[in-house]
Amino acid sequence: MQDEMIRWREAAEAIRKRADTQPKIGLVLGSGLGPLADEIEDAVILPYEEIPHWPQSTVVGHSGVLVIGQLAGQPVIAQRGRAHFYEGYSMAQVTFPVRVMQQLGAETFIFTNAAGGVNRSFEVGDIMLIEDHINFVGMSGQNPLMGPNEETIGPRFLNLAQAYDAHLRKIAIQEADRLGLTLRKGVYFHLSGPFFETPAEIRLVANLGGDAVGMSTANEVLAAVHGGSKVLAFSGITNQAIDQIDSERKTNHEEVLEAGLVIVPRLISLLRRILKAL
Ligand code: HPA
Repeated sequence: MQDEMIRWREAAEAIRKRADTQPKIGLVLGSGLGPLADEIEDAVILPYEEIPHWPQSTVVGHSGVLVIGQLAGQPVIAQRGRAHFYEGYSMAQVTFPVRVMQQLGAETFIFTNAAGGVNRSFEVGDIMLIEDHINFVGMSGQNPLMGPNEETIGPRFLNLAQAYDAHLRKIAIQEADRLGLTLRKGVYFHLSGPFFETPAEIRLVANLGGDAVGMSTANEVLAAVHGGSKVLAFSGITNQAIDQIDSERKTNHEEVLEAGLVIVPRLISLLRRILKAL
């Protein structure tokens, strides 16, 4: 972990040289949700390739820049485009941005992702507050906490019972209510992808307690909690996961990006209010 920590610090140093604000809040923007970063004022925009060791995103819909500035009066650092495990990155690389944002001062993280709705009451365009997760990938040992632990960063045996901060969730619910926005709540189920699931896999996810399914976030949350940060997270429901083999529907990335267009303005209004309330 020592080598990794050196890399975190080198990246943080390079960012500090380009942007003199000290971010308090780290924002991670999922597939199709990148336009949220356009709302950031006095923005310094850093392409990932200009930051040492930073994992480059290879996915359409993830533009690959870090945006540092102010949003609703709060100093933020936003990751527009993330690296996924399915791209071939290690879990250390997937969580590298979170570690660097922590080095820069981020104490709170707001994660967003695109997810398939498994809970049948969810509709495309809904926003789900992540109350808890099932890290199907991480549980098998594919997680960033494997290997030597650095006690100065976080504990060896991490408590995740309160991973999604209760106070932040309460603020989110309250602000959604004030906005008149239907905020779904549920369990995010993390699978590696990059394939969309079979109907039997979706029924498995449902039976195991997942409300939404997606290919990111859970391991980033581990790194954030490990480093002592508070976490708030949302899934944008971009499609209804297909759980019957006789369905005529097909899930594809275009559909995911298209639904992002509906979700972005809703999330912007909600995030602005949450940031103001912090
Ligand atoms: N499954 C997995 N990941 C996703 C989905 C899905 O249906 N939609 C958006 N991300």
